[in-house]
Amino acid sequence: MPHIYVKEFNEEKYKYSFINPQIDEVKFGKLFQSQTSSNRFLLFVEVFHREFFIEILKRGDKVLIKSEKNSRPSPNYSVHIALDKLAKIMNLDILSSNLNLKPSPHLKTWDNLLQIENLKNLNGFKERIQIEIGFGSGRHLLDLAEKNINVDFIGIEIYKPAIEQVLKQIKIQNLNNLKVLDFDARQLLETLPSNSIEAIYLHFPVPWDEQPHRRVLSKRFFDEVKRVLNQGGIFELRTDSEELFKSSMELFLNEPQIKFELQKNIKIDVESKYESRWLKMQKNIYNLKIESLEISNERQNFYISKNKNIAECINRTDNFLDLIGKRELKTEWFLNFIDILDSNNINGRDRLFQIVGGTYLAPSEIFLMLNKNQIEYLIKSPLEIEVYSEIDKYLRELFELCY
Ligand SMILES: C[S@@+](CC[C@H](N)C(=O)[O-])C[C@H]1O[C@@H](n2cnc3c(N)ncnc32)[C@H](O)[C@@H]1O
Repeated sequence: MPHIYVKEFNEEKYKYSFINPQIDEVKFGKLFQSQTSSNRFLLFVEVFHREFFIEILKRGDKVLIKSEKNSRPSPNYSVHIALDKLAKIMNLDILSSNLNLKPSPHLKTWDNLLQIENLKNLNGFKERIQIEIGFGSGRHLLDLAEKNINVDFIGIEIYKPAIEQVLKQIKIQNLNNLKVLDFDARQLLETLPSNSIEAIYLHFPVPWDEQPHRRVLSKRFFDEVKRVLNQGGIFELRTDSEELFKSSMELFLNEPQIKFELQKNIKIDVESKYESRWLKMQKNIYNLKIESLEISNERQNFYISKNKNIAECINRTDNFLDLIGKRELKTEWFLNFIDILDSNNINGRDRLFQIVGGTYLAPSEIFLMLNKNQIEYLIKSPLEIEVYSEIDKYLRELFELCY
């Protein structure tokens, strides 16, 4: 992870005016100071239109500066150049650094990296779309894309080095039918239109035999797989875990309208990296293929309010610190307030809430900024799915209360 250690970071010297004018491709925004630990800061930054936070942690006689873990963009070249720029404009005394400012020539542009908004209604995609979840080294996905030029492929991964590796290969192999998305697949399917995908591959997911709640495949996930597959569309699971294989079967045995095929130790055209590993160890490989036989109902639309204005509360003096550590537990979702950070500027005080929330199985991080009468999500707006639409309503109500 790109980082620098510096001797000192003087927040007083950071000027909000760095935001304007644009300094090369890096734009710095507000600097927020934690209200629970005066040694922690988050700095809003935008590089090549990707927004994220730089985290500044004062530790004894040195200061660590790195990207905030959950907002970290991929590829991480943008983090390298943002840290370098920050050090220059603030004249920081660098003690040590692992910055690499010479990125691979294939990772200078990221046109094959999808943003979640690109998936709305799947506009711009071919009629035929296939998805691979957790593509890892990308061996299987790259081969599929190369051999099926009439199909558009979407790869979904959360491991950033794997994403960068495949982005590089897409450029090198000049593939124009493969795009990748840096996102948790457990949430993503809920955003896709019904009956829109002809195949979903889930090859060698982490089995989590000891902690099954961490698996990608759950009842909720399986319901979404069925909804997004078109009639005749297939879902393919390959695994070396007998335990995962058996419990996956339980998810669909009661389904009225599917066709399934169970196989053991059958070969497929391309061995993924993990498949090769398990074959070398002479493990059994289980294969489950499900074909959807029905046309699913249209997806219900859910919204996150775009309205920034909230009721102006003249006496909004509450510092909300009692929210820290507070957990809001509902049947379908929860919220946990991690930190509250402040940024003072000529227009008053902006308050940043760092929150973890969502379903119990696949929560994500939410950054919400509040000032006297405006509320705004930073970095990215929550997904327009049922859970986040409820969370959005809850947060608006919470902050519209006048204390
Ligand atoms: C054991 S590896 C298998 C990789 C590849 N399919 C193969 O067969 O070589 C599992 C992969 O799934 C990814 N992964 C785990 N949870 C995920 C999630 N919720 N969404 C997307 N990818 C995920 C991991 O980062 C990892 O690359």
